[in-house]
Amino acid sequence: MLYGQRVTLRRVVEEDWEKRYEWLSDPVVNRTLPSGSGMPLTPEVVRERTRKYAQTDLSSVYFTIIKEDGIPIGNTQLFNIHPWSKHAEFGIWIGDKMVWGQGYATEVTGVVLDFAFERLNLHKVYLTVDADNPGAIRSYEKAGFNKDGILRDEVYKNGQYVDRIMMSILKHEYLKLSSSSK
Ligand SMILES: CC(C)(COP(=O)(O)OP(=O)(O)OC[C@H]1O[C@@H](n2cnc3c(N)ncnc32)[C@H](O)[C@@H]1OP(=O)(O)O)[C@@H](O)C(=O)NCCC(=O)NCCS
Repeated sequence: MLYGQRVTLRRVVEEDWEKRYEWLSDPVVNRTLPSGSGMPLTPEVVRERTRKYAQTDLSSVYFTIIKEDGIPIGNTQLFNIHPWSKHAEFGIWIGDKMVWGQGYATEVTGVVLDFAFERLNLHKVYLTVDADNPGAIRSYEKAGFNKDGILRDEVYKNGQYVDRIMMSILKHEYLKLSSSSK
């Protein structure tokens, strides 16, 4: 388990699939996820993915985000963990739209960065985010990510191409930020 001020992150378990299916079936949530291809999901696909995410695997770790009242609100993950270059990709989605804009994603991102740099001793955490997702970009910037570059016209959705932004944070940048916020 990982702990923030308001959130607890626990490893995904197979039984999480139904909640994940409910969240991922919401087009507003699914629209901005890199995995959101526009193809409707089936319960079987989500169940199989959840089963995979629940397995122990040194290249990835998937968490369910639980808020202070014990209610699950979304998922976060570190994946593509590279053993010698020591970098990993970060992802997050808050499936419960009712709690958007309350700082949960920013807090969760901080908890995962702490885990990545202080426990896994990674050198860099990176992510990609669609350019039409200003809320996500803002929360990543608040957590300390910097923009690395743009993948032009990377995603096709809703009848048009959208850029995808690459962002990252290095361990020394994170340590500087966390020591200045103490
Ligand atoms: C993106 C997401 C993770 C953000 O979660 P959240 O808990 O609402 O984020 P936070 O509250 O920590 O931070 C959001 C920030 O963006 C701001 N914001 C929200 N919508 C915005 C918009 N349209 N334009 C500019 N800023 C916006 C908020 O005001 C807040 O900043 P502030 O604290 O300075 O006011 C959540 O909306 C989500 O899961 N969306 C669907 C899936 C997704 O997009 N995942 C990310 C894929 S890369």
